[in-house]
Amino acid sequence: MIPDDLLNEYAVKFAEEIIRTKGVKYIAARKKKARGIMELITDKNFIGRYIMLTVARQQVLKKTYGNYPAPLLAIKAMLRGLSKPLDKGLEIEARLFGEAVATDEHKNLMHIFHLNERPKKQTGVDSRVDLEEPQNIGVIGAGVMGGAIVQLLAYKDYPVRMKDIAGPMVIKGLKHAESLFDGLVKQRRLTSLEKQRKMEKISGTLTYDGFQRTRLVIEAVAEKMSVKKQVLQEVEACMQENAVFASNTSALSISELQAVAKHPGRVCGMHFFNPVHKMPLVEVVRGTATGDKAVATIFDLSKKLNKTPIVVKDSPGFLVNRLLGVYINEACLIAQEGYDFQWIDLIVKKFGMPMGPFRLIDEVGIDIAEEVGLILGDAFQDRLKRSSLLADIRQANLLGKKGKKGFYLYRNNRQKAANPSILKLLPGTRQENDEQVIQRMMYLMVNEAARCLEEQIISTPQDVDTGMVFGAGFPPFRGGLCKWADDIGLKSIVHTLKNFKDLFGDRFLPVQYIINRKTFY
Ligand SMILES: NC(=O)c1ccc[n+]([C@@H]2O[C@H](COP(=O)([O-])OP(=O)(O)OC[C@H]3O[C@@H](n4cnc5c(N)ncnc54)[C@H](O)[C@@H]3O)[C@@H](O)[C@H]2O)c1
Repeated sequence: MIPDDLLNEYAVKFAEEIIRTKGVKYIAARKKKARGIMELITDKNFIGRYIMLTVARQQVLKKTYGNYPAPLLAIKAMLRGLSKPLDKGLEIEARLFGEAVATDEHKNLMHIFHLNERPKKQTGVDSRVDLEEPQNIGVIGAGVMGGAIVQLLAYKDYPVRMKDIAGPMVIKGLKHAESLFDGLVKQRRLTSLEKQRKMEKISGTLTYDGFQRTRLVIEAVAEKMSVKKQVLQEVEACMQENAVFASNTSALSISELQAVAKHPGRVCGMHFFNPVHKMPLVEVVRGTATGDKAVATIFDLSKKLNKTPIVVKDSPGFLVNRLLGVYINEACLIAQEGYDFQWIDLIVKKFGMPMGPFRLIDEVGIDIAEEVGLILGDAFQDRLKRSSLLADIRQANLLGKKGKKGFYLYRNNRQKAANPSILKLLPGTRQENDEQVIQRMMYLMVNEAARCLEEQIISTPQDVDTGMVFGAGFPPFRGGLCKWADDIGLKSIVHTLKNFKDLFGDRFLPVQYIINRKTFY
């Protein structure tokens, strides 16, 4: 990757950078630890090596359920090669590397790599747009999302002004941003001085003072259309000419919002995912009146924030929440048929999702999941069979992880046992037909993705896969939802959907888009 003549210079710079960010003591400690491990696994210590690598294998399997062959092959290479001379060891490694390269998982992960690279060459629009660097950015709303968005902007050195309606909220937002910076200091990715400098980029306010200088405002106030409309009108009165207004709404209509704007062309959606510092996806939402400049500005900013943007047409739930909505609804219906909800979570994890649907509902918040479910349910009521489960649970005042009680109980932010009151509500113990249970949830998402492509909510299957992998954690080793569906074969999926329609209802009716095609790609 680096020309020969420059290699030394780069290596020294690289080492200096590590010393600067991590500190000499940290490196010395790492070296000592690594030496200790090497002593245990090399030379004649066959038993030590065997135990060490067996434990490593168990840990990998616990994390990956065997879905990723490469780490297991790497362990195998160590186990077989470490007692042999270097050339023999390298030969073993090369052979096992060949095995890893030939796997489907490797091809799928390369596909994900290309999906991640794709936006780097894109602008989000077809026309040529001259962009202005936003320089000062305003954020309205200092809650969970506002605080995290402000931290991300300041981390990238944008001066940012954060407005809320009450002093304690502003302080809470600042504290939230500071705690995220503290995390980086703890990981030695920032020094305390750098953290302080970055925190100084953020100023809090209860008025629109300072918003006259901003070329971009990101709104993250409560999920209520009336509040968002009022905020848009207030800030438009003092925003700069040409400034862009981006809403972080999860499911409200951008087209409806921009109807009250003086300059609707400058209004669009910038949908971050929670937690902002971890989730790579941003949905850039184009309302009916949104202009190219607004879309290109948000697309460009997302890339500068190291996020992966996709452009989505305004529609209930946009792309990711719409697909997750049908998946979660189906999971609830299945549990209500007498299936054990913890078992459903387990088989979904084995499929490769980072967590099961019920654990995900707890993470998002039962109130929010129900709210999004209602928006989607109203929009697609002609074809969705709505589960009543979340409404029933909400009546019991359960909020999920943030309230320490949901489908599971939580202590110190960690999941503990299943919640006994949920077990009373969902006493089902069925643990059977795992393939069918997975297919019901996943094929519904495939069908919904096809519908989004048919309705041109997104333009390509690559966008679906980018959204689902980077926004919903769809297993990367499967290459994304559409790529996975192609590997199974759309014909077979359509056939199964038709069967499910007879067994479970009309929501499984396959859309014309997948009936007509052999593959998504
Ligand atoms: N929480 C999530 O998981 C998530 C994920 C993606 C998008 N979103 C969206 O982000 C937005 C904010 O969500 P949140 O979870 O941060 O909510 P939150 O309740 O944590 O914060 C909302 C903040 O907005 C403030 N606010 C209300 N009215 C205001 C006004 N008129 N002017 C200024 N501030 C005002 C409130 O005081 C509060 O501090 C919502 O539109 C939500 O749908 C949330």
